[in-house]
Amino acid sequence: MEFEFNVNILFPDVISLINWESVQKERRKLNGLYKHLQFVIDSLGILSAKAQQLTGSITSLQKSQLSGHNIYVLKDAESNSGLGTVIGFIKVGRKKLFVLDHDGNHNEMNPLCILDFYIHESQQRKRCGLTLFKHMLIKEDVQPQHLAIDRPSHKFICFLKKHYNLWATIPQVNNFVVFDGFFKNRSDYT
Ligand code: ACO
Repeated sequence: MEFEFNVNILFPDVISLINWESVQKERRKLNGLYKHLQFVIDSLGILSAKAQQLTGSITSLQKSQLSGHNIYVLKDAESNSGLGTVIGFIKVGRKKLFVLDHDGNHNEMNPLCILDFYIHESQQRKRCGLTLFKHMLIKEDVQPQHLAIDRPSHKFICFLKKHYNLWATIPQVNNFVVFDGFFKNRSDYT
């Protein structure tokens, strides 16, 4: 995704974390650039919603600031004559959920959830999604099977099967999907 401004100033790293703390910390530096950051995140949210055929965007800078979500943004620093382009993002956050286990028990848990994930159409199937996902796993210190996914799309289900051999075997009563191994070796479930 190209913009008229330099995205390298907004996103200093190849994968940058945008959350409440990072925006507060960089507030002075961002100053006039806050509007640009908002424009980029909100535009990504709109494209992601379109790609998933949702009726409205579920990601905006303001929403994620208020909810304490972490947004990891992947960029290509060199393209667009050095202004850089944004390739995609993944948004994660903890949610209190009732998760059904293999015995049919409802467990009140607070797992890390994948809330939104999008790679620009021009860059899909080039392992950009995998790069972003792997980075998020390391930074959040989480195993892929311990995540809960909010309404995964067909593409994302294929992605999880291919890269992590994840299969959803326990139907849930909410929109979240959990995978085989979700309940294994986690401190919040005994
Ligand atoms: N059809 C089926 N599977 C696909 C497709 C597709 N069009 N595109 C990607 N995948 C899956 C496949 O398993 C593919 O492997 P293959 O090419 O060997 O079949 C694998 O993803 C490719 O891995 P990456 O290249 O690392 O993934 P990519 O960079 O394409 O990112 C993503 C995956 C984020 C799902 C991307 O396809 C995308 O943005 N899709 C549109 C938006 C979307 O569906 N987001 C997930 C919403 S659900 C949520 O966020 C909770």
